[in-house]
Amino acid sequence: MPEITVEPVERFDLDLRVPGDKSISHRAALLGGLAQGESLIEGFLPSEDCHASLGAMTALGARAELLDDGQATGRAKVRVQGVGGRLQAPEKLIDCGNSGTTMRLLAGILAGQEFSCELGGDHSLNQRPMNRIIEPLERMGARLTGHGSRQTAPLTVHGCSPLQAIDYPLPVASAQVKSCVLLAGLFADGTTRVIEPTPTRDHTERMFDTFGIRWHRDGATIAVDGPQLPQATGRVVVPGDISSAAFWMVAAASSPGSRVRIRGVGLNPTRTGIIDVLRRMGAEIEVIPDPAGESGGEPLGDVVVQGTTAGLRGTVMEGAEIPNIIDELPVLAVAGALAHGPTAIRGAAELRVKETDRIAAVAANLRAMGAAVTDYDDGMTIEGGHPLHGARLESFGDHRLAMSFAVAGLRAHGRTIMADTACVATSYPLFQQHLNIVLDQRATG
Ligand code: S3P
Repeated sequence: MPEITVEPVERFDLDLRVPGDKSISHRAALLGGLAQGESLIEGFLPSEDCHASLGAMTALGARAELLDDGQATGRAKVRVQGVGGRLQAPEKLIDCGNSGTTMRLLAGILAGQEFSCELGGDHSLNQRPMNRIIEPLERMGARLTGHGSRQTAPLTVHGCSPLQAIDYPLPVASAQVKSCVLLAGLFADGTTRVIEPTPTRDHTERMFDTFGIRWHRDGATIAVDGPQLPQATGRVVVPGDISSAAFWMVAAASSPGSRVRIRGVGLNPTRTGIIDVLRRMGAEIEVIPDPAGESGGEPLGDVVVQGTTAGLRGTVMEGAEIPNIIDELPVLAVAGALAHGPTAIRGAAELRVKETDRIAAVAANLRAMGAAVTDYDDGMTIEGGHPLHGARLESFGDHRLAMSFAVAGLRAHGRTIMADTACVATSYPLFQQHLNIVLDQRATG
């Protein structure tokens, strides 16, 4: 099992591009594969999760050619020939790996087909709740079978054509569930409406624009008319992933005198909550929008974070802000442990059903490093100001846990060893390389 070893680094300077955005890469692969025509996806994240989406679409009849595998840059170039709405029944179970986004969004597409198909995942994904997508898709006329009360995968999706349009108030603020229902809406007769309790990432809606799909938003309601077929319009450019940039943003913000510049990162306002949180905690952050403007419907630019001599102070993260920072909460909890004063994360029960139970896992690792943490059903409070010490830690097979605690290790006393880090390939294939640039500055720090 690979491990990541981290020694403390006093001060560092980092100037890099992070790999392509995971959420946007998934949507480009799924809509590109479904569309009429050919798409060139640039900046595609060559991670296990996004390859699961691309592999699923090829199993369903799309053609995908890797023009650049993105091994050196984390940004692949893929040519996708879509099926023009005519998906083929796959020969065997579609393996979604660790990717909840692949399984939940793809289920929306498969619900509207005339065939049945099986979706499976790894041990973690096969434990995550799928009843949240099964319920609306069955209301639309598909039939899905999972296992147990939470209807976990492997799932069998018995499609139905056409589906029936529904109005669906989301019981949880989830972009995956919203996207699943909107994608199913492409195969429904009539207007499908999803009503969000709180705004969630809107990459599906923006990608709909790229693929010429008519949709509209009215307050909290997003509506799409069916049936509609996505049309390839040529190039889709995926910006850098702010959820990957988050690790270096927190590392710099919590190290007085350090500075990081992340270039070409996505600045979609449904994802930039981490900038607001770190500013509230006292970090100095400059955002430089790209003069070329939007790329494939998504704003992007550079983000510069400096660690100030005063250091970070604790904050409260709760309410409508939570969906915006949901993937950054593990590393923001680390920021809280490195700050002065208490930090609270509340209203984040969704963390319990991510790649692992991220409340339990973050609390366990923070405690192992000497932090004082109280955990609740829906979050935790962290008493900042207790110096962290290096420790042997578990990743719990969760990519964001592994990387968040590598960042904690940079600010701890002594050596930190993170076990079982193959999971990093889920979202950030160049993480170790980028970490080495920081670790190499140890002697001069
Ligand atoms: C995602 C939505 C979020 C997020 C996940 C990616 C997406 O999940 O945590 O990493 O691409 O739509 P939920 O929709 O379950 O909150």
